[in-house]
Amino acid sequence: MIKNLNISIYPSNQPNKFFKKFPFKFYKIYIFFNNYLFKLLPFSKDYFYGNKNNNLISDGCTEVKPLKSNTCNSLIGYIDQILARKNVKKFKLSQGVYRESITFSLDDNDLKKNLSLNEHRELKNTFYEIKNTIESIGPFSIKPYFIAQKLSSFDFDEGDTNTIMHIDRYVPAVKAFIFLTDTFKHGSSYEFIPYSHLINEKYIKKVLETSKIHFDAINTINPFSPQISKQKSKKYGFQGQAIISATNGLHRREPFSDKGQFRYTLRFVLYESISLTKIIKGNVKKFIKKL
Ligand SMILES: [Fe+2]
Repeated sequence: MIKNLNISIYPSNQPNKFFKKFPFKFYKIYIFFNNYLFKLLPFSKDYFYGNKNNNLISDGCTEVKPLKSNTCNSLIGYIDQILARKNVKKFKLSQGVYRESITFSLDDNDLKKNLSLNEHRELKNTFYEIKNTIESIGPFSIKPYFIAQKLSSFDFDEGDTNTIMHIDRYVPAVKAFIFLTDTFKHGSSYEFIPYSHLINEKYIKKVLETSKIHFDAINTINPFSPQISKQKSKKYGFQGQAIISATNGLHRREPFSDKGQFRYTLRFVLYESISLTKIIKGNVKKFIKKL
């Protein structure tokens, strides 16, 4: 039996060179087509398409039970050990910030050695809580792999487009984070503008306006920042906090304010994990309901 057919159907968030050969009208049609297609997919209507005044299930960031600080510290110890052993290359993210990443699984023996039984169980529970939440809002397929990311600042945190408010996609998109360090103390919190992820007429209008600016520009503009909402942003990232965030809403990484700061996160990026099996199942369910 086909267990999990994962496909990537996400359109990029801004017009590429191909579209610039044609009038903007074509790109506009392409945006409308993509939104129409995503509306047919089994994404939660209450999560992505609801009205701000109705009883929404989320403002765009959903919290699940946080990890305890001793679990976070054990995980940091494990990540540092792997980074040193595997000699992971440092990627320069901004003028003064390095990024290092590793991938690991819940079943890794070294992970189990570094965590107590209780800590491992706690991580497993948080993972499944994140998985269940994500699967309740869209046809995503989340595997028990974590991407651990360490950011360390050695100079001014300037030049990383992720520090500017932006959207990743203009169709329903999700990322999940577990913060292992207290980002309010050690730097680089996650900021999200509540309800900016709701895909309604206003949202599409703002996306189209920004697309036109990007379309007309000779050089690539980064990031993609539609003027969706002027509401105040909400900050996330105390030690252990676990969130699921709709990244088609406005968000950014707050720049580090000082040298010597660092941020450790576990993350799930779900842009390659739309599950065809779940789409089919979702549509069959919808069909049965209609009968
Ligand atoms: Fe982003």
